[in-house]
Amino acid sequence: MRCLVIGSGGREHALCWALAASPLCDALFCAPGNAGIAQDAQCRPVAVDDFDGIEALIAQEAIDFVVVGPEGPLVDGLADRLRAKDIAVFGPSAAAAALEGSKGFSKDICAKYNIPTAAYGRFTDAQAAKDYIRSQGAPIVVKADGLAAGKGVTVAMTVQEALDAVDAAMVNGIFGTAGTEVVVEEFMEGEELSFFALADGATALPLASAQDHKRVGDGDTGPNTGGMGAYSPAPVCTPEMEARIIREILTPTIDAMRAEGAPFQGVLFIGLMITKTGPRVIEYNVRFGDPECQVLMMRLQSDLLPALLATTNGTLRNFDLRWHAQSAMTVVLASQGYPGTYQKGTVIRNIEGAAAAPDVVVFHAGTARNDAGELIATGGRVLTVTTMAPTITEARNRAYAAVDLIEWPEGFCRRDIGHRALNRE
Ligand code: AMP
Ligand code: GLY
Repeated sequence: MRCLVIGSGGREHALCWALAASPLCDALFCAPGNAGIAQDAQCRPVAVDDFDGIEALIAQEAIDFVVVGPEGPLVDGLADRLRAKDIAVFGPSAAAAALEGSKGFSKDICAKYNIPTAAYGRFTDAQAAKDYIRSQGAPIVVKADGLAAGKGVTVAMTVQEALDAVDAAMVNGIFGTAGTEVVVEEFMEGEELSFFALADGATALPLASAQDHKRVGDGDTGPNTGGMGAYSPAPVCTPEMEARIIREILTPTIDAMRAEGAPFQGVLFIGLMITKTGPRVIEYNVRFGDPECQVLMMRLQSDLLPALLATTNGTLRNFDLRWHAQSAMTVVLASQGYPGTYQKGTVIRNIEGAAAAPDVVVFHAGTARNDAGELIATGGRVLTVTTMAPTITEARNRAYAAVDLIEWPEGFCRRDIGHRALNRE
């Protein structure tokens, strides 16, 4: 089978790494990919939003199966467009991807189908949103309705902060059209958990649990990022908790989307708050988490390719994935300044040294080669150093030993990835 992965981050590198290991994969392409992905797949310079270019590439390379990494092209209908041409695609239709593309839509689904989540209001009028905030008081959460590159959420500790967030989104338009509508919702307290399941429209197959660290600084301080590290399994996801999540949230969501005429195919990533009363939805995503995908791929023992393919043809109920019992951890190396402004083009050395240790894989998130052939950083998140070991403590030690071998003075990482899990070990 000839496969094409769409995307260029650490998530897509991990997917390419797992697909390249499949005996069913005869040829693997990635568009656009990065310098690390180029070790596992043939990269082609086609952007993720260039649907014509993607179709041309599929025809040119006789691609049988397309795996879409990021949410943007899914929300914009890439899967629909390819399915209309009888190409097998891993990823939901635009109608199903609205679970991530519109926070208001996802909240309405939860309300209609009794799926536990924070109480909320939807607003297209700034004054009405502000009146609601004043009536509810703080803490309170303000969310841009549409895709805002992970920056659309303000967890406001004061009413003023929430009012400012409304102005930023609806009056000043800092998120463009993504912020012309906002969701204002109840602040939930508890521990966060990322829950992933493959789905073929009718059946859902839960994957291993994982947890990421969103804040840029040690001790979960500083601004939100795409994720600075992750580990799997997540101790907060006990077998009892997993059973509740499946019963109270996962199955009702898959059933709801089918009932709405938008069956969900692909991977559903449910951001959960484990509260005193049980698991509640923070948000849905319609793709793998990045960097959660890296730890999941590290622990996956089964062949990834047939499982992804099963989401496209309604055969997921026949699947039972096997996972390494070991713990996996990934530490993100980012350019200094991220998530703010940062320098591009700085040179990175000795990834080979870091990756030489057993059970260490360095997935690339934002790299390229310069004219001299040197590896350079091209993004905010640049490398994800991923390890597996019998315990989370050993996985952590291995990950940081590998990180310390990489020579990149312009980079930084958090030093406390996994701290919550380590405290329980
Ligand atoms: P999101 O982009 O929706 O994942 O939100 C970013 C982060 O904001 C989440 O990971 C949570 O830490 C936090 N958050 C979002 N919604 C809520 C909520 N209702 N209560 C508490 N924290 C929230
Ligand atoms: N790591 C969180 C995300 O991918 O949204």
